[in-house]
Amino acid sequence: MEIIICKTKEEASRKAADLVAALIKAKPKAVLGLATGSTPVPMYQYLAKDCAAGKISFKQVKSWNLDEYYGLAPTHDQSYRYFMDKNLFDHIDIAKKNTHVLNGLAKDWKKEVAAYEAAIKKAGGIDLQVLGIGSDGHIAFNEPGSSLTSRTRIVSLTPQTIKDNARFFKKAADVPKQALSMGVGSIMEARRIVLLAFGANKADAVKGAVEGGVSQFCTASALQMHQDCWFFCDAAAAAKLKLRKYYAWRAEEALKAEMGA
Ligand code: PGA
Repeated sequence: MEIIICKTKEEASRKAADLVAALIKAKPKAVLGLATGSTPVPMYQYLAKDCAAGKISFKQVKSWNLDEYYGLAPTHDQSYRYFMDKNLFDHIDIAKKNTHVLNGLAKDWKKEVAAYEAAIKKAGGIDLQVLGIGSDGHIAFNEPGSSLTSRTRIVSLTPQTIKDNARFFKKAADVPKQALSMGVGSIMEARRIVLLAFGANKADAVKGAVEGGVSQFCTASALQMHQDCWFFCDAAAAAKLKLRKYYAWRAEEALKAEMGA
């Protein structure tokens, strides 16, 4: 694990975007795993700027998203398909047919998730997976108690996640109670992981993920077992890390080596 600690979320997002851009330059047919939530938005804005400036192109890139609310149509303004279109896909040169989000209206969810995993496999697997982290340590919708070997499936949201996400809906009762989500095991198969965490309300989750024991009660802690995982945090999200000075010193070198600086 490399833990990059920046003063601000803008700085962390720029650095994370650089890592994504470097992959796309090296591998124009890269397969990206993408995340929703407020956290990756600044990074997506930087990637859109890079694309507009002609520095990178998504023309041959394929993407698969982590999750989707079960029961929401892709046209619903809180669906993750809608979110991705508005926050990234509409601003870059990616072909919409190459972007994949689980179908929240799938009647047969088992068929939907099996096809989704099969399609990722057929594309050669995910080169780089973008992740946020929930205040309870979840990645995608893998809530505490999710098996660390779980696959894409239907999941039930915890009251905490419903509360956290209620800000996007008119009222908490409108937040769907279930979602289709890639599993921890599915996520772990990505060749590289880039997790973003910003703000003081993520400090406990980051602490648990990085310095806690590997446990299904903080599903992000499974990332300790991943061989190429990068956390990009702002100072507030990293504030509770015991070894944060060491990580900062080590990661700066790792990032330089990675970017060929
Ligand atoms: P957020 O959500 O980016 O809106 O904080 C993160 C998550 O729940 O994974």
